[in-house]
Amino acid sequence: MSDYPKGRSRTDRVAEDALGERVQRIEGGRVVLREKRVADAEHDYAWRCDPDLARLDAAQPLRAPFATFLRRYEEDLQYPCREWHRLGIDTREGRHIGNCVYHNGGGNANEVELGIMIGDPQYRNKGYGADVITTIAGHIFEEPNTDRIYLHTLDWNVRAQKCFRKCGFVPCGEIVRGGHTFIIMELRRRWRRECRAGPVRSSGQEKA
Ligand SMILES: CC(C)(COP(=O)(O)OP(=O)(O)OC[C@H]1O[C@@H](n2cnc3c(N)ncnc32)[C@H](O)[C@@H]1OP(=O)(O)O)[C@@H](O)C(=O)NCCC(=O)NCCS
Repeated sequence: MSDYPKGRSRTDRVAEDALGERVQRIEGGRVVLREKRVADAEHDYAWRCDPDLARLDAAQPLRAPFATFLRRYEEDLQYPCREWHRLGIDTREGRHIGNCVYHNGGGNANEVELGIMIGDPQYRNKGYGADVITTIAGHIFEEPNTDRIYLHTLDWNVRAQKCFRKCGFVPCGEIVRGGHTFIIMELRRRWRRECRAGPVRSSGQEKA
């Protein structure tokens, strides 16, 4: 259970990391989501170069040398894109296990697109992904104008779809990009209370 003072947003809480940087934290049950930092670069490079992870993202593994990657990484941290929010995923013990990203710079200001990757394979299939999604969805819906969170996942990525369904997302369409078929899944603000109680529905039923 959270130990946050009543009336204070979880995301207001600011802490100092080991390097003394001020970082924003969002606490879940098993994970802490926090701002990206240069110390993440080594893990992020390894994950970007991993052919299995690239395949799950319908991408090519990175081939650039680490020095080139790091230069660009530091620039991105120094001059972050306003619309994209990139967060590191740590265990409660402080181990960096993945990243998540969301943006609301699309055509509809009431919608947010979400992405997640548990990079460390030892931490997959253990409920960390579901905790991240539930935690970040709670954070995103703190913005009262946000009605919908959506994401894309490859049609054969059964694990990801199962994880998202556990968090209340339902399939609402398909899109083909670069020869890959992606399922679009969505979570609507008004579903959240019901979803926590367990009912499963198809997206079409709700859209009446
Ligand atoms: C997709 C991802 C975020 C999910 O996070 P996670 O922590 O592994 O997921 P969870 O443990 O919360 O849930 C996964 C569920 O799928 C189940 N599962 C795993 N592999 C499965 C398979 N081949 N078939 C069916 N179910 C499967 C797990 O048992 C679990 O269900 P359960 O809780 O009912 O037992 C994470 O695995 C990941 O980042 N994978 C690599 C990158 C990736 O796939 N990225 C694409 C994201 S769109």
